[in-house]
Amino acid sequence: MSVAFSGKSREDEGDGWNLMTSGRTHNSGWRSKSSVCLIGAAVACLGLLLLTMILVAKNTSAINQWDTKYEKLIYELTKGRDDLRDERDQLMIHSSNLTKEMEILRGQYDTVAASRDKLQAKLDTLNVNGTDKSCLQGWIKFNNKCYYISAHGVTKTWENSRKDCQERGADLVIITTRDEMDFVKRSYGVTWIGLFRGKEDTWKWVDGTELKGRGFWQDGEPNNVDGEENCAEVSRSAAAWNDVPCSRKFSWVCED
Ligand code: BGC
Ligand code: CA
Repeated sequence: MSVAFSGKSREDEGDGWNLMTSGRTHNSGWRSKSSVCLIGAAVACLGLLLLTMILVAKNTSAINQWDTKYEKLIYELTKGRDDLRDERDQLMIHSSNLTKEMEILRGQYDTVAASRDKLQAKLDTLNVNGTDKSCLQGWIKFNNKCYYISAHGVTKTWENSRKDCQERGADLVIITTRDEMDFVKRSYGVTWIGLFRGKEDTWKWVDGTELKGRGFWQDGEPNNVDGEENCAEVSRSAAAWNDVPCSRKFSWVCED
């Protein structure tokens, strides 16, 4: 027997193998064991392959699920963003329309205000000429204004005098001219007028305006005796103003 295998038939090869083993029976057993091993390995490989495929499939399915979930989320977010953009665009259009409308209204307002001012100026001229002011019964017309002079012998505090005027749709008289001053002082002994000391220690008229300049105060007035003289009166004798406590009771003159 040769140990060289080249150029030998299959049987020879078998013989060669046989040389390395202890006989034909043993060789057959080994082959069957080897086959079992091979099949086992193949099964194991297949199992491994199957397992890998399952894992890959599972992962693919999980990834698909994630993909679907994120796609949905992205879709919703995109839609939300687009809706907000649409809303913003609508609001911008609305805002622009409102701005235009406001400009038109402002223009109209200016026109109306201008004609109102013209009419008011015309009315003022007419009033100065004394043509169209009519006073209620019991009121006195003077320089085209209406005055109510409290009844003879009736006196009230400054507050209550004012209240009486307000109930008549008017207020205590505001004296702006010497003429008016002379008209008011003619009434009775002492008369309340619509002048009072405001919180800031300034003298104010009942329409909220501040007294400008010296007005018609008596010499040495207002002197705020005892720090309690917060209302102004005009007396017939002095023909000028004096500050006195508001709780005093005097006659009063209302102006409409
Ligand atoms: C004073 C006034 C004061 C008044 C009070 C007068 O004698 O000259 O300033 O308001 O008394 O009643
Ligand atoms: Ca005084």
